[in-house]
Order: sequence, then structure tokens, then C-alpha cells
Amino acid sequence: MQYKAIKLVKRPGLEITPDLFETVTLETPELEDQQILLKQTHMSLDPAMKGWMTDDRNSYIPPVELGEVMRSSGVAEVIESRSEQFPVGSRVVGMIGWTEFAVSTGSGLSLLPPDISAEAVLCVLSLPGLTAYQGLIEIGKPKAGETLVVSGAAGSVGSMVGQIAKAEGLRVVGTAGTDDKCRWLEDELGFDKAINYKSDNLAEEIRDATPDGVDLYFENTGGPVQHITYDRMNAHGRIIVCGMISDYNTDKPSAGPNWINMIRRRLTVQGFAMPDHWDEVPAMMQKLGAYLQAGKLKYRAHKLDGLESAIEGINLLFTGGNTGKLMVVL
Ligand SMILES: NC(=O)c1ccc[n+]([C@@H]2O[C@H](COP(=O)([O-])OP(=O)(O)OC[C@H]3O[C@@H](n4cnc5c(N)ncnc54)[C@H](OP(=O)(O)O)[C@@H]3O)[C@@H](O)[C@H]2O)c1
Repeated sequence: MQYKAIKLVKRPGLEITPDLFETVTLETPELEDQQILLKQTHMSLDPAMKGWMTDDRNSYIPPVELGEVMRSSGVAEVIESRSEQFPVGSRVVGMIGWTEFAVSTGSGLSLLPPDISAEAVLCVLSLPGLTAYQGLIEIGKPKAGETLVVSGAAGSVGSMVGQIAKAEGLRVVGTAGTDDKCRWLEDELGFDKAINYKSDNLAEEIRDATPDGVDLYFENTGGPVQHITYDRMNAHGRIIVCGMISDYNTDKPSAGPNWINMIRRRLTVQGFAMPDHWDEVPAMMQKLGAYLQAGKLKYRAHKLDGLESAIEGINLLFTGGNTGKLMVVL
């Protein structure tokens, strides 16, 4: 059977452009013992992919080599199997790549229960939810009554962070790039306040929304929100550095805030990357499943159609054009 896959053939400059990729037609091979054939149904697109395309060998994960199928996670169905562990008809989540079909031994894949949708898996129970849980709960150690500011709040990670914080009894303020996204955060997700970070009065709006200061800042974007929120941190505040998307498409990293407040306010600033925490995933998935079942986590998927839509579609993450977890339906 023939199928399409997309290889990375060039390193990106400032932006992700179509010439970085080559679409190839491949043939599914005869399976060997313990192998399975996967038909991918939903493929995740994530901001981190920009970093994986570059030749940075000093990061938390090696780059995708030129000529390799582009790396991504996704949900797939097992359509042929020579493995008892993964029978035909079962569904899995894991790193599958920009491809319609893939042969695997099952290593690194998790079996999914039949009653959960692929969208719920990619929006909540995989990277977005796990990242939010690890960063907010394990690193941030939030306490009821504290105030959280989360940037990139309408995105897949940010929207989970805000909702988990609400479920834990925090006051939640989010920043996002459009008034529509802000309305969704307040009206549908129950954020106490959502602020458009493109506002001319951003500092004033963040100050007014955080009358008791800020105990936790969950950083997804960098940019002006970072500096303003840093200045409002309370004593013993925690800053969880998850992402800096405003810096991903520039060759001049932005200047960070001055360290003096870390001393004066005794702040903890901690970066993290999920590949360090794969062992903790089953326990975290249970916790996320409980929030989901209790109706505390709403989500929305932004779906693109067909493998090759990934090539241009990934840039929606950098323009803010995505409304919800960006994924390709195959
Ligand atoms: N540490 C980890 O292990 C880990 C794991 C997953 C994700 N992350 C990071 O978490 C962040 C969010 O990722 P995600 O998957 O949830 O993506 P996402 O928020 O669903 O999508 C990206 C969003 O970033 C915002 N954005 C783009 N350019 C921006 C800019 N210059 N300034 C401010 N906001 C900008 C856009 O929303 P607006 O319309 O609001 O601008 C866009 O919708 C990223 O920085 C990502 O790298 C880290």
C-alpha cells in the first residue's frame, strides 16, 4: 500500500517555509515479528517543532536530521499487527511523525481506551495537559487563594493551566492576542480576567487584574507580559518557564528582566521540558482524567485537513491564527 510522508530537507531561517519539506510516497513493508502497522488519524502540531528543525544539539532533545520524516506526536489505529500487545483495531498515542502510515514495534506508544476521542487525547491527555500539570502543580505548587498569571492563555497549554488553577481555587488571569480569545477564556473557561496583550494599557490592565500581586507566573510567550508580571511578583512567588514563543521566530533573543527582584522577593524561577518527565506520565494522566471527568477541563481543537496542510498550517501557531489545539486530521 502506498502512503505519503513529509521529510525535513532543509533547516529553517527565521520562519518555517514550504521549501524545508519534501513530500514523499512510500510503500508499506511486510511486517516483521513484533511489528505493527499504524494508520495515523490525528497529528499534533506544536511550537517546539521549530526548535526540532534547527541544528541545535545542546537542547533537551536532538534535532530532526535532514532527510528524516518530521517528528510529531499523534493518535493512530493499528491496522496490521504481529504483536500480541497491540491487536488490530487498538488505538495508540505517541511519536509517529508527519506521515499517514508508520511501522512500529510499539516502543514509546501508549494504548488508548476505546471510549476517548482522539481530540480529547491530543487536547488534554497528551502534551498540553501533561505540560500544564507538570508545570503548574509539580513545579508551581499552587495554593488556593493565590493569584496566577498565565501568558498564551488561550493556547493549548495555557488554557489547561488556567482551568487546572481554577479547579485548585486560584485567582486566574490570562493574556491572549485577540478580544475573541479573551472572551472565550472568561465566558467559557471561567478565567477571572483575560487581557489582550496587544492593548496600549497592558501594564495598567495587568495591575488592575492582580490587586494582591502575583504568586505564580506561568510563562508561555515572553514579550511584554513577562516584564510587567515579573514586576508584580509577590514574596516567595514562583515563575514557571514553559515556553517563549515570541522569541522562536527571531534571531535576536529578547532581554530578560533584571535579577534583583529574585533576591528582594525571594522568587523561584524554573524552566522545564516534558521529555524529562515521561516516567511520571501515567500518574499525571490519571489526575488529568479526573479533572476531565469532573467537567473541569474544556478544550477546543483547531483541525487542519490532510497531511500536507501541516506545511503551511504550522505557522498558525506563530501568527496566533490557531483557535485551540492545532492538529491535522488525516
Ligand atoms: N516546556 C515544555 O515541555 C513545553 C511543552 C509544550 C509546549 N511548550 C510551550 O508552551 C507554549 C504554548 O504552546 P502550545 O502548544 O500551547 O501552543 P498554543 O498556545 O496553542 O499556540 C501558540 C500561541 O502562541 C501565541 N503567540 C504566538 N506568537 C506570539 C507572540 N509573539 N507573543 C505572544 N504570544 C504569541 C498565539 O496566541 P495569541 O493569539 O494569544 O497570540 C498562538 O496561538 C509554547 O511556547 C511552547 O513552546 C512547552
